[in-house]
Formats: sequence, structure tokens, C-alpha cells
Amino acid sequence: MKLVYWLFLSLAFAHGDMEDMPMANSDNHDSHNDISDGSNEMSTTGNSVDSSNMESMASMVPIPHVMKHMHGMPILQTELLPQERLFWENYNATNYINYPNNNKTAMSLYFVFMTISFIFINPILMVINNLNPQSINYLIGLVINSGIALFGLFNYSIFIHSIPDLYPGNVFNKFNWIYAVTVIGQLIFTVLKIGYLRQSQYKSIDQIDSPAITLYDLSRNQSPNSFDLNDDETHIDNSDNDHDERFTNDLSNHLNFVKGKFNVNKIFDNSLISRIIDSVGKISVIVFNILNWFNFLFIFVYIPTGIATFGLFGQGKTVFNLLAHFIKGGIFFFLGVISLARYCGAFQNKGWAWNYKFITSESFGWWSKIQPKGLITMEFIESFLIFFYGITNVFMEHLANPGGKWSAKDLEHASIAFIYIGAGFSGLLVEHKLNDWRFDYSKNIDDKSIIKSSPGFSPNPFPILTIFWTGILMSQHQQASELSTKIHSQWGTMFVYGTAFRFLTYILNLILSKPPSLDMMIRPSQPITELLVSFCLISGGMIFMESCDPIVLALEYKGYDAMFTLNIALGVTCLLMAWIMVVFQFKNFIKNKYY
Ligand SMILES: *[C@@H]1O[C@H](CO)[C@@H](O)[C@H](O)[C@H]1NC(C)=O
Repeated sequence: MKLVYWLFLSLAFAHGDMEDMPMANSDNHDSHNDISDGSNEMSTTGNSVDSSNMESMASMVPIPHVMKHMHGMPILQTELLPQERLFWENYNATNYINYPNNNKTAMSLYFVFMTISFIFINPILMVINNLNPQSINYLIGLVINSGIALFGLFNYSIFIHSIPDLYPGNVFNKFNWIYAVTVIGQLIFTVLKIGYLRQSQYKSIDQIDSPAITLYDLSRNQSPNSFDLNDDETHIDNSDNDHDERFTNDLSNHLNFVKGKFNVNKIFDNSLISRIIDSVGKISVIVFNILNWFNFLFIFVYIPTGIATFGLFGQGKTVFNLLAHFIKGGIFFFLGVISLARYCGAFQNKGWAWNYKFITSESFGWWSKIQPKGLITMEFIESFLIFFYGITNVFMEHLANPGGKWSAKDLEHASIAFIYIGAGFSGLLVEHKLNDWRFDYSKNIDDKSIIKSSPGFSPNPFPILTIFWTGILMSQHQQASELSTKIHSQWGTMFVYGTAFRFLTYILNLILSKPPSLDMMIRPSQPITELLVSFCLISGGMIFMESCDPIVLALEYKGYDAMFTLNIALGVTCLLMAWIMVVFQFKNFIKNKYY
């Protein structure tokens, strides 16, 4: 993510670098003069070329191809029609980064500290909390990370108050306030949550004679962490006794320490206080989980908004074009990240990591109960989201033109939404149809206690069909400029490749023989094609975001071509994928070593 960030920042820099060109700052009168000068110059050069052609054919050096359309050149240095020249000479490339200001240090500190906090520390903390919700190491890490984030935000505040409001009405200032509040909130609720979880353990140990059993029960059955992604329903647990013992000893030490300070029984005997503590504790666990996920996922909204704000992209009416690209591109980007996470084993307990999932008659938990016989697959979720998105999108396309008539462009875009509604609904129907198939296909092992099961996927083509057609349509969508058309076709093509690889994943899953043991079946199967799916979706989503009008104009102004943007997007995608895999490797390492 850091690199995505720097990519867009460098684009923003590029956007602004030209500001000090004299023509960009000239007023209208001057630019009119420039235009006439420019066209005169052009025609004179044209004439001189013609005449020199006539005169000096003999002395000419033969070249196979002369560049008529200069690439890699700022647009003002290329041949332009008069009205184009008028536009580009008045193009204002000012932004927050190149605006003259004495607090550049505060701005840099803000970028560096937020990057460290958001991209490097936050995911690691998510992992630690996921493995052990009462970890004191997590609390220590969180205190450090919150300090880093708040220091970053403090620098943002210094910077933003030292510069005029270049982007009136932007939401980014509010975002920073929201984040400051949620960061502090998360810190407070982490303390409450960890205190509660640890205390309820002391309590149980104190009341029941055998601490080992209590601990075992607690960790397996009564996990108060209602959002825990690791709820083990039929999950086969390999936790070794060593760990349990170590944990128990550790806990008794703590307990003795607590007992020395005050009498635990006395507090918990009072049932009113006990009940209040209990409900406050339960609430703080829930609030903590909400804040934890919010602060983690916020990055996917915060960084794009920050890029748009710092680059001054999308002011006035262009905001709708920017939003449409950022939201939709962001969704595909996110889908790519999710695909990689699934490959690495995320959601294994739900059967969404390309692994088999079995629910036995002894399984407990609401999630097991509400599932159909063939379980809910990722294809169901995808179809549902596509369907839902299609419905909302019919109205969203009309936002730029509220109350007015539906323009042809509105209708053209809304017609794409109908593909989504139809394909999403078909996908849901196919999921229903394949319910029995998933159960029959996966269950045939000699375990009579299995009442629900899934091979971890549905051979349901509709989610990929939707993305495939989005890609095809977009790679053929004619845009105003050549660069924009090229970039649209880049991400369109990426989506087409991505869906092709996902299709191969289904084929591979269907033709490869089943793993020989139950233990291997419930492990993530890591289909090779999924890494390519993820690659295509992440880079396609990123290029999608970058293909909005304001950013394309900025690229053209500076003279970047389509290959440059593609190279950067592919490079950033690979680095990002590497970082995501490092995070999951870290999780596996910690899990194998300590749990
Ligand atoms: C460009 O925009 C900035 C910020 O909005 C403004 O301060 C500056 O005067 C503008 N420049 C021109 C030449 O209009």
C-alpha cells in the first residue's frame, strides 16, 4: 500500500511540477498572445520544413520512422490545436505538494509516520490480536502504533493550517479527525477488553478447582470475542499441551499476584457489580472489534481520498468522475487483496481459502446453524454483492445530473448496471442450484456426523462473467483522449485475464483428485492460478482508479505515456503482494511457534 501511495504522490508531484512554467501562470490576455505566437510559429516551421524539403532532398539523412506524435513530452511542447492550447495554458497544476509553504517538513513527517503506522504496523497488530485476543504484546504494540499515528496526524494539522485552503469543502480534514478519535477509542477499548478477558479467566479459575479444564473450555467454547475469525467449529486443533501448561503457569502467577493485591472473590461475589463488569466487558469486546476493523479497513478509503485531496483532483463537477473510478477501481483492488488473502489461508474456518469445510452435528455457533447444506461459498457472496451493487448503481450513475433528464451517457452507464443486476441474480440462483452438488461432492468420507459440507467453491460462472464483461466493455470504451483510451483498455484487459485465471482455478479444482485425508482437505489448497487472479485484479483495480479524467489530464500535462503508468502499476502490485504474503507468513510463523 505504501507504494500505491507513493505512486499517486509522484503522480501528484508530476501534476504540479509544471506549475513554475511561465505560461501556466500567465493571465488570459497573455495566453491569447501565446496562442497566436504559437500558431504562427507552427505555421512558419511547417513552411520552412516544406521549403527545406524541396531544397535539400539530397542532403537529407534517411530515417525509417519520424516521430510525429511526441511521447514523453509535456503536452505544451507538442503540436496542439488552438483551442487545446488555450485549455492547457490555463491548466492550473497547483496542488498541496508544490504550493509554496514553509512547513514541508511537517508534511513529510506526516507522510512517513502515517505510512509506517497504516501499512507496516497495523497489519502486524491485526495478526497478533487475531491469534491471541488478550495479548499484552498487542497492547504494547498498539500504544506505540497509536503514538506514531497521532504524531503523524499532529504534523498534518501543522501543515494544513500553514497553507490556504486549496480544496474547499474536501472531506479529508474530517477523515483525519475521525481517525484520531477512533485511534484513541481503540486504545481505550483495548485496555477494557484485555482487562475483561483476563479478569473473567481469573474468576473462573478461582471458582473452579481445575484451572486446566477451565482454560481449555474458555479458549474453545466461551470465547467472548464474537467477531473472532478463528471460531473453530470443526476446525481440527493442533494445540499442544506444552502451550496449555505454560499458559496455566503463567496465569497462576498472575492470579497470585492479583490475589495479593485484593480479594477477587469479594468483588465477584457482589452480583450487581459482577453483572455490570460483565456487560461493560462484553460491550467493550464488541466495540473494540468494530474499531479494530474500522481502523484497519479505513486505509482503503483514506489513502485514495488523501491522494485526490493532495493532488487537488476532482474539484467541482469532476468529483463524480473521480468518485466513480476510485470506488469501482477500489472494489476490484480490494477483491484482488482478498483473493491473495484467501490463497494465503484467510477465512479457512469458513471454507473460503480454497479448502474443504465440514460441519458436524455437534457443531455449535450461529454461523454453522444458518448455513445451507452445501454451505455459503465466496461465489454466493460475490453474486450477492454484484446484484446489490447493480441496484444501487442505477441511481448512482445519475448523481452527476440530479433532477435533470437522463442523458445518453447516464443511460449508457446505467445499462452496464443492468448486466450486474441480471448476472448477480443469476449467480444467486446457480448457488441455490449447486447446494446439493457441493454437499454430495465433498461429503463422501465415512463420517456420518457430517451434516453440512462444501468443497470450498461453487463452479458458478456468473461472478467472473460479470467481471469479464466489465473488462471487455471497458477495453473498448472510446475516451476523449488517446491516453485515457489506452489506460482504460489496460485495466479492461487485466480483468479479462483475471477472470480467465479464476476460471482455470475452478477447472483445476474439479479435475484434480481429492486430498487423501480429512486433515489435508481442510487445509488451504493454494491453487497456483489464484496468485495470478490476485495480480490481475490488484493491478487492474489500481489502473482503473488512475484512469479518471482529472488524473489522466495531469499525466498528459506532464507527458507520461500509457506504458509508464502500466509499469508503475505492475511494479507496485508485485511489491504489495509481497508485503501481504509477508504478513501471512508472519502469522503462520507465530501460530506454529507459540500456539
Ligand atoms: C491555481 O490554483 C491555486 C489554488 O487554488 C491558486 O492559488 C492560484 O492562484 C491558481 N493559479 C492561477 C494561475 O489561476
